[in-house]
Amino acid sequence: MSTFDEIIKIRRSIREYSDKEVDDEDILKILKAGMQAPGSRLGAEPWEFVVVKNKDTLKKLGEIKPRVTNAPVAIVLVGNIERSFYKLVWQQDMSAAAENMLLEAVNLGLGALWNGVAPEEERMKQIAEIIGIDDITTLKPFCIITVGYPADGWENKFMDKFDEKRIHYEKY
Ligand SMILES: Cc1cc2nc3c(=O)[nH]c(=O)nc-3n(C[C@H](O)[C@H](O)[C@H](O)COP(=O)(O)O)c2cc1C
Repeated sequence: MSTFDEIIKIRRSIREYSDKEVDDEDILKILKAGMQAPGSRLGAEPWEFVVVKNKDTLKKLGEIKPRVTNAPVAIVLVGNIERSFYKLVWQQDMSAAAENMLLEAVNLGLGALWNGVAPEEERMKQIAEIIGIDDITTLKPFCIITVGYPADGWENKFMDKFDEKRIHYEKY
């Protein structure tokens, strides 16, 4: 386990993975991290998760989001609008969960990638159909987090993204 300071600094988008399988226990830890995120209303978090390991399904998802094809596991984050209280901010709730999941993956020595899905309706519909959702009025695919052990040439490592010019004190 790394320290939080290391994890947050070294997290990178890992887009290619080795063939090594990811333990179910680790997948569960990543899901738990997602559900530990802040939400716009306690008890009304919209997040639900579809864990995909089936190669045919990964391939189908990969036709829409190419990086999914060769990932050992993909987690589709689905926003359930019925569950949410502040319905307009469901994407913000989902984002908080997604970032937590990326960081937990790093913590476990894995690599992960946020594959964007929402807000493009067509893409959301295509992903929904593949994972067995026939209507995106209530259940909205938000993003797909792919997870795996980084392939050769890919690693979580520090890249300095700090930019002092973005900081404003007291007034813009
Ligand atoms: C909303 C969102 C959507 C993203 N969608 C994709 C995507 O579809 N494909 C991809 O390769 N990376 C995607 N990324 C990852 C970004 O490209 C990546 O975070 C960015 O280039 C910075 O690199 P880093 O994650 O290594 O710091 C997405 C990230 C976010 C936050």
